[in-house]
Amino acid sequence: MAKIELKSLEHRYASSRKEKDSFAIEDLNIVWEDGTANALLGPSGCGKTTLLNIISGLIKPTSGSVLFDGVEVNDRPTRERHIAQVFQFPVVYDTMTVFDNLAFPLRNQGKEGNEVEARVNEIMELLDLGSLTAMKASHLNPAEKQIVSLGRGIARKDTVALLLDEPLTVIDPILKLDLRRKLRLVQQELKLTMIYVTHDQHEALTFADRVTIVRDGFIVQSATPEELFLHPRTPFVGYFIGSPGMNTLRCEKTSDGLEIPGSSLSLPSAIASRADKLKGRIDLGIRPEFVETSAEERSDWNRFTIQMVDHAGAYQVLTLQSGSLQIKARVEDHSISKEGDPMWVNFPSEKTNLYADGERVAP
Ligand SMILES: Nc1ncnc2c1ncn2[C@@H]1O[C@H](COP(=O)(O)OP(=O)(O)OP(=O)(O)O)[C@@H](O)[C@H]1O
Ligand SMILES: [Mg+2]
Repeated sequence: MAKIELKSLEHRYASSRKEKDSFAIEDLNIVWEDGTANALLGPSGCGKTTLLNIISGLIKPTSGSVLFDGVEVNDRPTRERHIAQVFQFPVVYDTMTVFDNLAFPLRNQGKEGNEVEARVNEIMELLDLGSLTAMKASHLNPAEKQIVSLGRGIARKDTVALLLDEPLTVIDPILKLDLRRKLRLVQQELKLTMIYVTHDQHEALTFADRVTIVRDGFIVQSATPEELFLHPRTPFVGYFIGSPGMNTLRCEKTSDGLEIPGSSLSLPSAIASRADKLKGRIDLGIRPEFVETSAEERSDWNRFTIQMVDHAGAYQVLTLQSGSLQIKARVEDHSISKEGDPMWVNFPSEKTNLYADGERVAP
């Protein structure tokens, strides 16, 4: 088990032609505490795989340090870092049985006989692979293969961390749930430091205690799922997390508070009064879940028109329009929403985030 730390880390691929894109990772600092379940979440090309490969030693960073428990490991080869890595496509030996696949890393380590058997049985029990012991890996379905891949990674007792790079991508949706549950179980039982890479927010939020949002080689925010939901540090995080993402509305300061250009919207005084201390470009962020709506007229709320109703089972997503302003609201009540109908809207101050030059300002 290890605390993993990246300090002033930068990486530039030698083969990168365009100067602008040359940094895959830029001045990145983070600590993943020992034994914690973490996710790295970000759009395609933001540098997630590069980061994992730097931690495991498959890539040497251009500059900066990788530390395990406070000790720099930059010059330590991959096999001496004791990391288990699970990739998008399962890595198993097709001609070997499940048992032999799991025993392979142990035998490589010089272990034999009862010691190998005991450990393999332990891992098979943990991963619920007992019934597949003697099966050739070529006969397994993709989800089972991925579980065996995972088992091979964690079989060695000196494994300190488990890095997973989009491990559920090729797995059937129904089997995904089971695999995710097993991953979580493994992390809790073995108390491994786990870093799980995905571009799927649902996977990240349900799996990890702490989610790190990466964009263009930078960390935008690293926080609990709840914190990311309630207090996104930037409008990008607000939009990237959530379904649909946070509404972001450009605002302008006026003598008596805030206004939204192009609309006649009035903001509650509790929000407007927070504008005093804001400098630079100002944005207001409110999640569709927190937009208050009423089909009955409310004198102190704003009148919108329902443009679109998207049914999502337990709730509906309304697209609401006022002048040139469009927002999304999530409502539970199915009886109230019809396209073309008016809807009165309020932004509760305590659920509204304000951003100055793209950074959240605490109320
Ligand atoms: N071998 C390479 N040579 C040159 N550039 C590379 C190489 N590998 C990755 N890159 C570039 O580095 C940046 C980060 O890539 P990386 O694969 O780490 O992103 P990612 O977040 O894992 O993306 P995805 O979600 O698509 O897997 C991208 O701009 C990518 O084009
Ligand atoms: Mg990747």
